[in-house]
Amino acid sequence: MSEANGMPVIEFAQVCKTYRSHRGMGELIPGAKASSQVRALDDISFRLARGRVLGLVGESGSGKSTLANVLVGLEAPTSGRMLFEGRDLAGFSRTDKRAFHGQVQMVFQDPYASLNPRFTIRQTVEEPLIIHRHPRHERTQRVIEALERSELRPGAAFLDKYPHELSGGQRQRVAIARAIVLGPSVLVADEPVSMLDVSVRAGILRLLRSLIERLGMALVFITHDLSLIGQICDDLMILYRGKVAEFGPAVPILDHPRHPYTQQLMAAVPVPDARVPPAELPAQLMNAAGVVGDGPQCNFAPRCIHTVATCRSAVPLPRRIGDVEVACHRVEELGKGAAITEK
Ligand SMILES: Nc1ncnc2c1ncn2[C@@H]1O[C@H](COP(=O)(O)OP(=O)(O)OP(=O)(O)O)[C@@H](O)[C@H]1O
Ligand SMILES: [Mg+2]
Repeated sequence: MSEANGMPVIEFAQVCKTYRSHRGMGELIPGAKASSQVRALDDISFRLARGRVLGLVGESGSGKSTLANVLVGLEAPTSGRMLFEGRDLAGFSRTDKRAFHGQVQMVFQDPYASLNPRFTIRQTVEEPLIIHRHPRHERTQRVIEALERSELRPGAAFLDKYPHELSGGQRQRVAIARAIVLGPSVLVADEPVSMLDVSVRAGILRLLRSLIERLGMALVFITHDLSLIGQICDDLMILYRGKVAEFGPAVPILDHPRHPYTQQLMAAVPVPDARVPPAELPAQLMNAAGVVGDGPQCNFAPRCIHTVATCRSAVPLPRRIGDVEVACHRVEELGKGAAITEK
């Protein structure tokens, strides 16, 4: 497996993922209308290199967890391809898949729920080594090393503790130790600090950032919270109803958001600098699942203050502004005019 930074370790090529939408009991009634479909991911393409952190931002239902599930191999794309180190996952043998599952690890939102309360810290962190058949005599040393890399020092002092003996921040560090113990090349962290006390969030973000650099991993960092992005991400993908609204290096996007949706997300941050903590997003920004069956249009058009006829009749292709791709018909025009500052 390649160690070089700069090489894509993960590549999505036009990935779509469609689900049947939940219709509850209606689906059981004979003759009931066929259920509609939700396009959770719609034509997603990107490359991710080792040593890089990609932030995935979007409101609830935008497809962040679906993207994570496709990335770690829990879900297969409905169409398009997911490549790991240049090879299409769809062609992987059982042995390849097994190796892949060791190489791509997740850190979950809730360290209280993600750690088995009946397992000691040793058992928790050792389990992936057992599953991946690492020799017994190496395991304790690997566990201690992973704990210490996660800043639980001395690692040996944590081995026989149980999760309930640790603080929330320490538990998330145990979850991180478990995720890195196999020496993976990719981590996916789905809202990894949102359940934690504000006082420990910065420490966990710093830890993740330094692990990515020191161990040459790539990280996909999922969040609702734009205030965290500037602290950890190199690149940013703003998702809206399964589609990429804006994608590129984090700094220009945070300094000068171009897509009206990114601007709205930033406007929901109650201070001029999006890198300090925001309040919750307003209700109208929440729960915008895409339902397949709309005519071709910009999926943000119904909520955009800049919508014109073109937005309702054609899907915007990504346009490149500097290093940033923006899926908006009007991005150049709005960038020049005063309209961009309208509320
Ligand atoms: N297994 C599934 N079956 C049917 N629909 C699904 C399934 N998983 C996700 N969806 C739908 O796909 C869309 C995207 O969901 P997803 O969980 O990826 O969003 P999210 O961005 O992670 O949201 P949140 O911020 O709430 O975690 C939603 O409309 C959701 O209802
Ligand atoms: Mg989610």
